[in-house]
Amino acid sequence: MGGVWSWRGSNRTGRTDDPDPTTGLTSRDRYLIKSTWANIMESPTDNGVALLVLYFEKFPDAKGVFPFKDVPTAELSTNARFRAHCNSVIYAVASIVDSVDNIDLLVPILEKVGRSHAPRNVTNELFMQLKETMLELFGKIMKKEEVEAWKKALEVVFTVITKALADN
Ligand code: HEM
Repeated sequence: MGGVWSWRGSNRTGRTDDPDPTTGLTSRDRYLIKSTWANIMESPTDNGVALLVLYFEKFPDAKGVFPFKDVPTAELSTNARFRAHCNSVIYAVASIVDSVDNIDLLVPILEKVGRSHAPRNVTNELFMQLKETMLELFGKIMKKEEVEAWKKALEVVFTVITKALADN
């Protein structure tokens, strides 16, 4: 009996020995990414605001490419345009997470993010700073194993995005 339940349990939460040949993510990594992201999607706009406010606090120059660059960071969380932007970013990351098992869809989605940001003066460095901010925020709310899975995933995500940005 115990064997049956432990097999079912490990099947649901993913294996650690089956890395995807393209992304290197195991099915356990992908399970952790999807399950932790589901928590974030319980309050998408507020979590998007938390991410971008932390980003601008850590990297004030990043704000300079946005239309709300002149709004003081302390006032951003109540700015309607900023909140709408945060919501869009979170849903864009949601579509990345939703495609984590489908590499044929994942890569073009990431390339589109890179290409769509080229005319907005977004540099590789700004993308890398956002990655660092995401990992810092996740470190405050997730377990170590979950953050490690995100670290692996974001390595791939930002490599594909910044390559598309550079090729543009
Ligand atoms: C994973 C990384 C990112 C994702 C998924 C993402 C997603 C999005 C989305 C969905 C939009 C709105 C839809 C569109 O027009 O394409 C957008 C707009 C924008 N993003 Fe990003 N973004 C990312 C990183 C960045 C970074 C690092 C910067 C610069 C610091 C940036 C700057 C902008 C700007 C300036 C706009 C236009 C905002 C406006 O006109 O209101 N993005 N982004």
